[in-house]
Amino acid sequence: MRQIEVSNCSYIYQPGTINAHQALDQINIAIDAGELTAVIGHGGSGKSTLALLLAGLFAPSSGEVKIGDGRIPPEQLFRQVGLVFQYPEHQLFASSVFEEVAFGARNAGTAEDYLPVKVRQALETVGLDPDLYWHRSPFELSGGQKRRVCLASLLAIDPAIIILDEPTAGLDAAGRRWLKNLLRELHCQGKTVLWISHDMSEVAELAERVIVLERGRVIADGATASVFSCEEQLAAAGLEIPQSARLVRELKARGLAIPGEAVTVDGAFAEIAAYLGGDGSV
Ligand SMILES: Nc1ncnc2c1ncn2[C@@H]1O[C@H](COP(=O)(O)OP(=O)(O)O)[C@@H](O)[C@H]1O
Ligand SMILES: [Mg+2]
Repeated sequence: MRQIEVSNCSYIYQPGTINAHQALDQINIAIDAGELTAVIGHGGSGKSTLALLLAGLFAPSSGEVKIGDGRIPPEQLFRQVGLVFQYPEHQLFASSVFEEVAFGARNAGTAEDYLPVKVRQALETVGLDPDLYWHRSPFELSGGQKRRVCLASLLAIDPAIIILDEPTAGLDAAGRRWLKNLLRELHCQGKTVLWISHDMSEVAELAERVIVLERGRVIADGATASVFSCEEQLAAAGLEIPQSARLVRELKARGLAIPGEAVTVDGAFAEIAAYLGGDGSV
């Protein structure tokens, strides 16, 4: 089932002024329910603008963004599309973590006496101990904790579409692992997940599909392995394919009889181990 449809969509910041800037240029994207898609691109390629359009926070300058059947009233869109901003501090506003996480769920119709249960569950899901964080100001938390609070606010609303704008930025290795597991879990629950990143190695591990933006245009869109096989095209967009993919391609180019198609560390390991006569298990 088609869930997101972006047709000929452009977005211009400050139109009609000398600072006018076209951030998106005639974008076309169609995403089905339940897909886990990564959007990658260099800084300034339009990723965050696209996220804001999908969440209904910006209206396209031209073209159309259709969510679901396209008949959801704008003020109800937040129940369908949840976005964690690239900079979580731009979205936090409440004086306590409880109020922050409860806000959206309350607006989505959760009964007042059930809110604490929902907030507790959401905080547990994002790895914040409710007893420790409940009364704290979200503004006093670290960058990673702020992001977790924003994510909890979104999970408490339980939208069908979840958009995360560079969610691993500012997280340490354990935090990144945790977040990737959460993405995997949301995907297994049937959520439509859009994951914005500029880290190719990171998305190679998880995403089924990759959309590449460059200067406001979609320059590639397809299965992860096939997008990462267009090395020259990606290089032209200032993006490097994952190091593991570079390694197997280079080995193949130098005459090693391996497929040279892997895009993850595990995949590269399996190719090389198979060549050496192993079974690829660690
Ligand atoms: N508020 C704004 N006013 C003018 N230009 C903006 C504004 N926000 C972003 N831009 C410009 O739009 C382009 C796309 O930005 P953005 O969507 O944030 O890209 P990304 O998330 O890929 O880094 C960039 O060139 C950026 O400088
Ligand atoms: Mg951005």
